[in-house]
Amino acid sequence: MENIYYSLKKENQKRELVIRTKKISALRLNEVLIKVKYAALNYRDILIYDEEPSPVNHLEIIPTSDGVGEIVSIGKLVSQFKVGDRVMGTFFQDWVSEKFKESYIASALGEQVGFLSRYVVLNEKGIVQIADELTFEEAVCLPCAAVTAWVAIQKKGQISKGTSVLFLGTGGVSIFGIQIAKALGAQIFVTSRSEEKLKIANGYGANYLINTQKTPDWDKEVLNISNRVGVDLIAETLGGSNIRKSLSALAPEGKIAFIGCLESVTTNFDPNSLLYKNASLFSVYVGSREDLISTQEFIVEHTIKPHVDKIFTFQDAENAFAYLRKFKFL
Ligand SMILES: NC(=O)c1ccc[n+]([C@@H]2O[C@H](COP(=O)([O-])OP(=O)(O)OC[C@H]3O[C@@H](n4cnc5c(N)ncnc54)[C@H](OP(=O)(O)O)[C@@H]3O)[C@@H](O)[C@H]2O)c1
Repeated sequence: MENIYYSLKKENQKRELVIRTKKISALRLNEVLIKVKYAALNYRDILIYDEEPSPVNHLEIIPTSDGVGEIVSIGKLVSQFKVGDRVMGTFFQDWVSEKFKESYIASALGEQVGFLSRYVVLNEKGIVQIADELTFEEAVCLPCAAVTAWVAIQKKGQISKGTSVLFLGTGGVSIFGIQIAKALGAQIFVTSRSEEKLKIANGYGANYLINTQKTPDWDKEVLNISNRVGVDLIAETLGGSNIRKSLSALAPEGKIAFIGCLESVTTNFDPNSLLYKNASLFSVYVGSREDLISTQEFIVEHTIKPHVDKIFTFQDAENAFAYLRKFKFL
């Protein structure tokens, strides 16, 4: 059987999305063949498209880490899944539940193997059954953004009722974060460059809305709103010089979950500012298969509806990337 998939081809120093075909090889003992229903884009997919230097030199790049589909064939030793099961891929194919190893980075989907494809072959340890309560369109949002938000807010952030949490911008991680924090009874702050997006974030449970176009010194606004105390947890998705503002908006003994660097990949914050607040900084690199299972359980238990902005056809993939680059979505 032939597979049709997108590949990122290098042309004149720039990558270009091209459609390719390849024969699907016989399944190995623990592999499953998935007929892809949906793939979802994350900011990382744009970074890879626009040539983020990868620690791994893959011969070919097949985009998108996040994907869902139906199992159409299984290898002889597959024990946890059967034909017809609805499944999603795990971000790191090799990270099941144990302590993270750097070698797992090479197993991230959206590089050598990705879901922008009609079919995908994965090992059964790299997939998770989709809960009956979730549609394919909802489940496809989970593997990267939802897991990252859940690990930052609940697993590592350990927030509880009344804790204050700040989200920067209204991207995929922030919106899931707001929904998760709301379910945990937190007081939620969110910044955005768009009034319209702030209204949507408010609908998902954000209590305090800060428009950074009108209030560039948003850290001062956070301190004003919180009676000069600051917030207990910040999901840092902007990085760069923004971290200094995050440190200023942080409450004593607060925590910063370092997630992303939308503003810049370099930063020069002073670790002493953490010390003066007796604060902590931890990082989140998506999560394991077990984290995806826990995230899905949390989402189902709290009847959280993943936010789907727009659906594109397979043929229209290039426009989906262009749409994401404009940051007009929510
Ligand atoms: N460490 C991990 O495991 C992990 C996992 C997922 C994502 N990430 C990283 O986390 C970050 C967010 O990812 P995402 O998927 O949520 O992003 P996204 O869905 O693409 O959304 C990003 C949002 O951030 C805001 N934004 C973008 N550029 C900005 C800038 N220069 N200054 C201020 N605000 C900006 C915009 O919101 P407004 O229009 O509302 O301002 C935008 O909609 C990215 O850096 C991504 O690589 C890391």
